[in-house]
Amino acid sequence: MKIGNIELKNNLILAPMAGVTDVGFRSLAVEYGADYAVGEMVSAKALKYKNKKTFDLLITAPNENIKVAQIFGSDPKIMASIVKSDILAKFDIIDINMGCPAPKIVKSGDGSALMRDMDLAYNIISSCVKVTDKPITVKFRAGWNDNINAVEFAQMCEKAGASAITIHGRTREQFYAGNSDFDLIRKVKQAVSIPVIGNGDVVDIESYKKMLDTGVDAVMIGRGALGNPEIFSQILGKNLDVDKLQDIKKHIDILRTHYPETLVVKEMRKHILWYLKGYHNCTDVKNQVVREKDLEKVLEILENFFKENKKRES
Ligand SMILES: Cc1cc2nc3c(=O)[nH]c(=O)nc-3n(C[C@H](O)[C@H](O)[C@H](O)COP(=O)(O)O)c2cc1C
Repeated sequence: MKIGNIELKNNLILAPMAGVTDVGFRSLAVEYGADYAVGEMVSAKALKYKNKKTFDLLITAPNENIKVAQIFGSDPKIMASIVKSDILAKFDIIDINMGCPAPKIVKSGDGSALMRDMDLAYNIISSCVKVTDKPITVKFRAGWNDNINAVEFAQMCEKAGASAITIHGRTREQFYAGNSDFDLIRKVKQAVSIPVIGNGDVVDIESYKKMLDTGVDAVMIGRGALGNPEIFSQILGKNLDVDKLQDIKKHIDILRTHYPETLVVKEMRKHILWYLKGYHNCTDVKNQVVREKDLEKVLEILENFFKENKKRES
């Protein structure tokens, strides 16, 4: 599949997840076969006002051959000015968030609130498309609460010039509860000619196949990749030997080249809990990791755990 002129090989994408898809995690996802990994959503306004923390979210890894930034906001002028500015110069695709359900976001009319205002959403997308040659993509949901308008919304995105769309088959009201509506995703795919990326509840080969059955051109995986970036290689049928400890170390090494260690320790806590999911006797090590403030000590705790784990297995 192609997004604009950009060719994907595996048609697999890591979903943007605020607070999760940091540069280290994205790099692992790409290593395991994701064509690209979408960065955490960034506020166009915050970029406009040159917020340092927001700029930090735009750091990318050397193996990210296709770099994708996701921006959110509801002012067409600001959104377009950021799209054409040098701030996003290194990115190959700009994705617009029209799906975030968080109260803080929708209160400002951003994220999924835009599904209630097609004219404004159209204006935002077309304003961004006009100022760049790069593909502009849009990620949205089934609809805003009872108003399931994903099909019309998808057609609007196409008309506004979007190069591809991602549909997460849940409504705003559902947040992450209930199921992603695969029938609706099928209808969205049938309603437009631009590539459609299906999203929601893909956690293994079986659910991946179900998603492909809807006819979508590519599949985006979020929570199924938490602590489990190898999901991409599993789906691709590559039986790689996964070395969890090495992966965690890689993740840490990438983060520590860009951020202070205190921040890396904090960032890594949740990831380490996910990475350890499914391991026997990991309660102790989890408790130690969430309390530890020193990165070297965190690494030591993990080295010991995996050494013991190996001994137990052999
Ligand atoms: C912790 C978390 C953060 C998320 N942040 C974003 C975000 O920044 N931008 C976005 O478009 N979607 C975001 N999402 C939604 C995911 O991209 C995805 O649409 C959703 O999780 C459904 O896919 P899944 O079932 O594969 O996880 C987030 C989801 C989670 C769980």
